[in-house]
Amino acid sequence: MELCVALDLPTKEENLQLVKIIKKYNVWLKIGLRTYIRDGEDFLLEIKKINPDFKIFLDLKLYDIPNTMADAAESIMGLGVDMFNIHASAGKRAMSEVMTRLKKYKKRPLVLAVTALTSFSEDEFNTIYEKNIASKTNQFAKEAMESGLDGVVCSAFESESIKKITSKDFMTLTPGIRPFGEDAGDQRRVADIAFAKEVFVDFIVVGRPIYQDANPSQVVKKILELS
Ligand code: C5P
Repeated sequence: MELCVALDLPTKEENLQLVKIIKKYNVWLKIGLRTYIRDGEDFLLEIKKINPDFKIFLDLKLYDIPNTMADAAESIMGLGVDMFNIHASAGKRAMSEVMTRLKKYKKRPLVLAVTALTSFSEDEFNTIYEKNIASKTNQFAKEAMESGLDGVVCSAFESESIKKITSKDFMTLTPGIRPFGEDAGDQRRVADIAFAKEVFVDFIVVGRPIYQDANPSQVVKKILELS
């Protein structure tokens, strides 16, 4: 299981400080909306200067019409990131269009589909999708696999059943991880590391439990020992 550290701090300087503190570890760095909108491609270059071996997960959760999503995916190709994500609810046609466009490149990043945000409670999810989380995420995962994606973003609670209905090689990436039972914050479906391992999660995403700790390096070390 691999660790993605979410770089969700309020300023570029604080994010870079965190990257420096954890630079000796073999981890992925997750760059989300706030950071990418504010700091852009330059930020990616600055990270690579600190340690060129860091793998980058660009978490922009694309959701638009198929052609616009595929155009954006091609622009992402130019950034040299290792993984990015799109919304499964954009539909099979959009997901397939993205993957078809990426076919012409020799080496492409991993592409994952977001199923249900881990901040959703069952009720909140039902209001929007009119289905329960478990059955809808299974459906999204199947559609993502059929569209040629590499895996999905889901909560740890869906990982095992998704692997069953897709394939054990179809990846799951799970945010909402509270490694040692820390405060859930706005997340609603949180799991710890032992559980994530048990259900064959490929990537865990951890943000606040690392960057809000007084000793982020120690937390990363402890997570990696258990992963
Ligand atoms: O601080 P925390 O560990 O909750 O951070 C989780 C990260 O994962 C945040 O950057 C959040 O945007 C992201 N994320 C999520 N749920 C998803 C997809 C991404 O929490 N389904």
